[in-house]
Amino acid sequence: MLTEILEINESSLKLSKKIILGGGAVAFPTETVYGLGANAFDTAAVENIFKIKGRPNDNPLIVHVHKDYDISSLVSYVPDYAATLAQKFLPGPLTMVYKSKGVVSAAVSCGLDTLAIRIPSHSGAQKFLKYVDIPIAAPSANISKHVSPTAAEHVFADLNGKIEVVLQGGRCAGGIESTVLDCTGDIPVILRSGLVTREMIENTVGKCGEFVFKEGGTARSPGMKYKHYSPDCPTMLFDFADREKAFNEYRRLADGGINVCLLCDNATAEYARFAEVINLGSTEGEIAANLYAGLRTGENKYEYIIAVAPEKQDGAMAGVMNRLKKACGSK
Ligand code: TXA
Ligand code: MG
Repeated sequence: MLTEILEINESSLKLSKKIILGGGAVAFPTETVYGLGANAFDTAAVENIFKIKGRPNDNPLIVHVHKDYDISSLVSYVPDYAATLAQKFLPGPLTMVYKSKGVVSAAVSCGLDTLAIRIPSHSGAQKFLKYVDIPIAAPSANISKHVSPTAAEHVFADLNGKIEVVLQGGRCAGGIESTVLDCTGDIPVILRSGLVTREMIENTVGKCGEFVFKEGGTARSPGMKYKHYSPDCPTMLFDFADREKAFNEYRRLADGGINVCLLCDNATAEYARFAEVINLGSTEGEIAANLYAGLRTGENKYEYIIAVAPEKQDGAMAGVMNRLKKACGSK
């Protein structure tokens, strides 16, 4: 199969709709990462998404809809706090989990009685979702466990030959996956951190819980228990306070003839003029937006990535730290 990256216009949207209604998959941009979409009503199409990615079959998918889609046709109950949050943050990088009405294929939620719904703000995503006008089940458009794609070229690198179309939407402005929020209980509970932060949710509706997955425990969001976001090369992560140790490790590897790079924010890069640096930038927004592209550059150009965490680790940086830790998990 030939994979093409197509600009979003009438003809590529028409082709995308034809592929989706024919049971195929189309990659499309969102403001977080690129998604690999299929018709959420079509079980074979949804199962195909798992096959293309090599995704474990107990990790449910998010359904994506355009901003005018009536989600009451998909879910049975939207609590008041969820309506308030939707009003404030949607369209945007917030996925909300509700009790499902069971009208989309059971394969989407892997048999759970809940459904995760996302209304992305990216104009290309909105155009695609409006054009097909059906719920689109979509995980991130990468091979399972690899780094998520934040550019059409990243999707191409992972899925070339496996899908027909990648809709071109440029670099994703957000850069890390959406916040996943359980809205089935009395208060919202964060299942996956993202750019809509716990503080932002608390400031809007008062209370917000956070589910912390413990190794061996039950996963409220099945995705938590899997290793994710990993580059195809060895990595090591140092805390901001341990920068000197990171620099020493860098020198040790470089002296041993290893083609190593330092992945860090601008504050650390300033002190690492001696090193090959992948500089993620200065602001929270830059660091999140550049993280996955930085990890991909690291694995493509180098043999070893030494990452140094940013100093500030709360708010939006909590999501970045979560990904960095998973990417640089024990190997
Ligand atoms: O930003 C994003 O969310 C991107 C773009 C493409 O929208 N999508 C994405 O999908 O990150 P994926 O499949 O890589 O991650 C979906 C996450 C997983 O952690 C999964 O376990 C969780 O959402 N999830 C999906 N349905 C769920 C449900 N019914 N209950 C709890 N967690 C759910
Ligand atoms: Mg993913």
